[in-house]
Formats: sequence, structure tokens, C-alpha cells
Amino acid sequence: MPSYVFLRPARETKFTVNKSLEAYCDVEYVGLDATASLRKYWRNRSARGYVFIDIRTNVKPDIRCSNEALPFRSGVFEQVFYDPPSVARGRGQFTGSSMAFRYGWWPRKRDFDRNLTAVNAEFARVLSGDGAVLFKWTEGPGAIRPIAHCLAKLDNFRPVHVEKRPSKSGNKRTTVYFITMAKRREAA
Ligand SMILES: C[S@@+](CC[C@H](N)C(=O)[O-])C[C@H]1O[C@@H](n2cnc3c(N)ncnc32)[C@H](O)[C@@H]1O
Repeated sequence: MPSYVFLRPARETKFTVNKSLEAYCDVEYVGLDATASLRKYWRNRSARGYVFIDIRTNVKPDIRCSNEALPFRSGVFEQVFYDPPSVARGRGQFTGSSMAFRYGWWPRKRDFDRNLTAVNAEFARVLSGDGAVLFKWTEGPGAIRPIAHCLAKLDNFRPVHVEKRPSKSGNKRTTVYFITMAKRREAA
């Protein structure tokens, strides 16, 4: 079967594929990294069975597209990793720094809220019935939204495991959350 069957045909989504489409053929897909950036959380940065996407070309995703309109068929993944930027533009020197390059930022709160609403629907669509979202969120003085706000927006999913870690920066007011969220039965 041609590889493009993996990608959702007839969908008005702008995307660029950086590997040959054949790379997506004959692979049993397990997961989607929906905010890949430099893939720092991965030991194997080209893990077979995972697709790495990002809205930015300069971080070299497998597929450059928005997680708000995914070019994949429904129900194809078991896991989605979602690690969105947690800060807004305009906080000191952040926008020009290497941190900004790695993590990205949101222009305004409403851009992040729109993203949360869209991924809530898209992740539910591309995940299988017992699929899960792994959501990472950094909560601290600079966070654009509190964790409770994010979880309320991701209401197609329910948290089943919450891990809290202190920030590597040593800032005691910052907590990093790793939350496993199961797809609700009633979600699409
Ligand atoms: C915090 S970083 C992810 C870091 C990554 N997990 C790592 O380990 O290096 C967030 C990424 O989300 C990307 N992003 C922001 N909006 C996006 C969207 N609509 N679709 C896909 N990626 C997006 C940003 O470009 C940025 O690279």
C-alpha cells in the first residue's frame, strides 16, 4: 500500500514532510510527539514508530504542521506527547535566547487557549480508544496559564497519573508536571 494512506487525504492542512513519504510506510505507529522541538526528552531522537511534528521548520521535525490540524487518519496512535511552550512573549530577553529557540512561546494567552481547545479535539481524534496523552507543563511565576486551567480545557481526557518534579533551574516556585491522561470513553 502506498505510504500516503497514513496521512489523512482530502484534509485542508498545510504540512511539509521532511523525510521521504516511504519512511512512513510499513511502520506500525505508536506515538506522536506533537511539540517536538529539539526532542530533548528522547534518548532515541528518531525513535521508530514515533512521528515528530512541530510548527517550526528550524527544529527539523519529521513533518512540519500544526498540532491544531493534524494530517493523520483517526485512531492511529496509542500515545501523544504534548509539551507546549509555557510562557508568553515579552518576558525580558526570553524571545531572543537559546531557551526561546528550544521552548518557544505564545504571542498571547488567547493563542494558547485556542491551541488547548484544538488539540483537545485533534488528540482525541487521532488516538485509539485506550490511547493516552502525556502532558508536560511547567508551572511557575512566568507560566502563561495555571495547570488547572490547562486540564479543564483538555476535557476529552482525564488525568490518571500525575508526577511533580522540581524545576532543574532550582527555582523553588516552579514545578514541572508530567501528567498521563486517558481518553474519555465519550470523546470522539
Ligand atoms: C516546550 S517546546 C517542546 C520541547 C521538546 N519536548 C523537547 O524535549 O525539546 C514546545 C514546542 O512546541 C512547538 N509548537 C508551538 N505551537 C505548535 C503547534 N501549533 N503545532 C506544533 N508545534 C507547536 C514550538 O515550536 C516548540 O518547538
